Amino acid sequence: MSNLLTRFLAVLSLAVGLSGPVIAQVNPTASSVTEDQLFESLGTAPVVGRVTIPDAAAAYLIKPENKSWAALQAETLHLLVVGPIVAIIVLLALFYLVRGRIRVDSGLSGRTILRFNALERFAHWTLASTFIILALTGLNIVVGRWLILPLIGADAFGTLSAWGKLAHNFLAWPFMIALVLVLLLWAVHNIPNAVDWQWIKQGGGLLKKGVHPPARKFNAGQKLIFWSVILGGAALSFTGIMMLFPAQAGTPADWQLYQTIHALTAAGLTAVIIAHIYIGSVGMEGAFDAMGSGEVDENWAREHHSLWVEEIKGETGAAGHPKAHPAE
Ligand code: HEM
Repeated sequence: MSNLLTRFLAVLSLAVGLSGPVIAQVNPTASSVTEDQLFESLGTAPVVGRVTIPDAAAAYLIKPENKSWAALQAETLHLLVVGPIVAIIVLLALFYLVRGRIRVDSGLSGRTILRFNALERFAHWTLASTFIILALTGLNIVVGRWLILPLIGADAFGTLSAWGKLAHNFLAWPFMIALVLVLLLWAVHNIPNAVDWQWIKQGGGLLKKGVHPPARKFNAGQKLIFWSVILGGAALSFTGIMMLFPAQAGTPADWQLYQTIHALTAAGLTAVIIAHIYIGSVGMEGAFDAMGSGEVDENWAREHHSLWVEEIKGETGAAGHPKAHPAE
C-alpha cells in the first residue's frame, strides 16, 4: 500500500467532514481496496474537510481531477513545451547552412553611431539575463527529470532544482520590472506602420544577399519580437503571480489552468527568443554591437535601418522622405 494511500486512509478515519455517500460506496479499510478504487468511488467530487485557517483551499483533501491534469503534464504538455524549442533550433541550423552569416554588403565603414543608450542597454540585459535563467530553471521543472537527473544523479539534481526554484521565484520580479521599462522605452518605436509591409514583402532582406528593405528604428520582424516579449511576458507574469499566491488565485482548477498557460507561453516565447538571440549574435554581422557597446557601424545601420539613420542624422524631410540635396 502506497504512502499516499496510508495517509489518505488515516485522514479518512479521522472523518474530517467527509460527506456520507463517499464513505458508503467503498470500505476504505478493506485489505483489498486500491487507491484507484477509492478515487473511482469519489467520482469527480472533491473531498472537502473543514479548516480554521484563512486558506480555505487547504480543506481540499483529495482532488480526483488532478489525475487527468497530472497525466496531461506527464505526456502532452512535456511534448508541447519541448517541441517548439527543438523545432526552432533545427530551423535556425538549416537557415545558417543555407544562408550563412548575414554580412554588411557594403563593408564596414569604420564610422559608428549610437544605437542604444546606457539605460536601453541596462533594461535589455536585465530582461535578457533574467529571462534566460527563468527559462532554464522553468525547463528544468518540466523536463529536468528526463534530461538532467540521469546525467548528474539524484542528490545533485535535488540541490540544483531547489536552487533553481528559488531563482525562478525571485528573478521573476526584476524580469517584470525590466519588462515595464522596455515597454516604456520602446513601445513608441514598435507601432506598426506602412513601411513594415514593404519589409515583410521583401522577407526583411534576410533571404537574399543585397536586398535591404527600408526600416525605422525597429523593422517588422523586431516589432513582432517586441510585442511577443511584451504580451508573452505579461501573460507569464500574471499566471506566475497567481501560482506564487495560490490562496488568492481561485480554485485548484484555476491553478491548473494558470500553470498550463504559463508553461505553453514560456515555451513559445523561448522559441521566439532563441531566434532573436541567433540573429542578434552569430546570425548577423555587426548586430551584437548595438547591445554591446551601443554603437553600430554606419553602413550596417544604413543597410538595416535606413530611415532611422536619415532621421537621426537630420537627412529626413517633414513627411519622412529623404531631404533633397541642394544640387538636386
Ligand atoms: C544573449 C542573448 C541576447 C542577445 C545577444 C541579444 C541581442 C540583441 C540585440 C543585438 C538587439 C538590438 C538589435 C538592433 O540593433 O536592432 C536586441 C534587441 C532586443 N532584445 Fe535582445 N538579445 C538577447 C536576449 C534577449 C532576451 C532574452 C530578450 C527578452 C526576453 C530580448 C529582448 C529584446 C528586445 C525586445 C529587443 C528590441 C527588439 C528587437 O531588436 O528585436 N533579448 N537584442
